[in-house]
Amino acid sequence: MGQDHAVAPSLQSPIMNTSAVTPTWALVTGSSSGIGRATALKLAEDGYAIVVCGRDPARTAETRELIESAGGRATDLTADLSSPAAVRALIGKVRHVVGDAPLDVLVNNAGGGGFAATEDTTVEMFDAAFNLNVKAPYILTGAFAPAMAGRGRGAIVNVGSLSSTMAAPGTSAFQAAKAALMMLTKSWTAEYGPRGVRVNSVEPGFILTRVNEHFRDMFTGYLGSVPAGRGGDAEEVAEAIRFLVSPQASYIQGAVLTVDGGKTSVVAM
Ligand SMILES: NC(=O)c1ccc[n+]([C@@H]2O[C@H](COP(=O)([O-])OP(=O)(O)OC[C@H]3O[C@@H](n4cnc5c(N)ncnc54)[C@H](OP(=O)(O)O)[C@@H]3O)[C@@H](O)[C@H]2O)c1
Repeated sequence: MGQDHAVAPSLQSPIMNTSAVTPTWALVTGSSSGIGRATALKLAEDGYAIVVCGRDPARTAETRELIESAGGRATDLTADLSSPAAVRALIGKVRHVVGDAPLDVLVNNAGGGGFAATEDTTVEMFDAAFNLNVKAPYILTGAFAPAMAGRGRGAIVNVGSLSSTMAAPGTSAFQAAKAALMMLTKSWTAEYGPRGVRVNSVEPGFILTRVNEHFRDMFTGYLGSVPAGRGGDAEEVAEAIRFLVSPQASYIQGAVLTVDGGKTSVVAM
């Protein structure tokens, strides 16, 4: 967090958010599943109260229950972030939940879509991919970063993809959207970094989550070219996000941390 972070939850004992202490909130989009859920659980361990956010009400509530059963504090909200109107409605609900307590962490994790050949990608599919992967983070950051900057502290992590720098056929809209999100990490570093808000990206490679568990066999060739020799799991990406949020990353701004087992560093031979 910023240099004068008053609470620094990650440096204190786990689960410090009791009713007697003003909580510091973290909003994790796409936390009903996968990387987002793993991140929400880790940030809750680090003492943040979590706004869990997903589309599926049951899975979203399940993340909240997991946090609560571990002694943490959370609330769950549902929204389809491919709709800008729903994003704005979510912002109102988050503000209502958080009240006067600080929301110091935003993890723009919800993403996906746009998986089709260019000629088969309709305008609606293209718009949905950009709405979810770019416009929703944009609106959320515009809503919450100014207050972080006003407090002189905050951390925003955008969850990109190795697709932002490496192409594969059949996913052009997704790739373009994630590339735009990567640039926004730098834009927001320019805008909010001087006022204590650190903005960074993680870029996962192949991670076995709900989004691709049915396509595992399609990635056999890909995995053969990963130096780590395997796909990753959600926990491994969540640890990278937890680090970028933590005070230990106090001098890291505008960075892109790949969590891809070395895939983007090595030419497949
Ligand atoms: N897994 C990988 O190999 C991989 C690789 C590169 C990048 N990523 C990125 O990592 C992030 C997390 O993905 P994951 O692998 O953890 O997948 P996941 O397990 O399927 O989780 C995706 C999360 O995003 C939410 N979400 C999806 N569409 C949404 C929408 N329109 N509105 C609101 N929420 C929505 C889902 O909510 P519901 O389930 O409630 O619908 C879920 O919580 C994404 O940005 C993805 O692009 C993943």
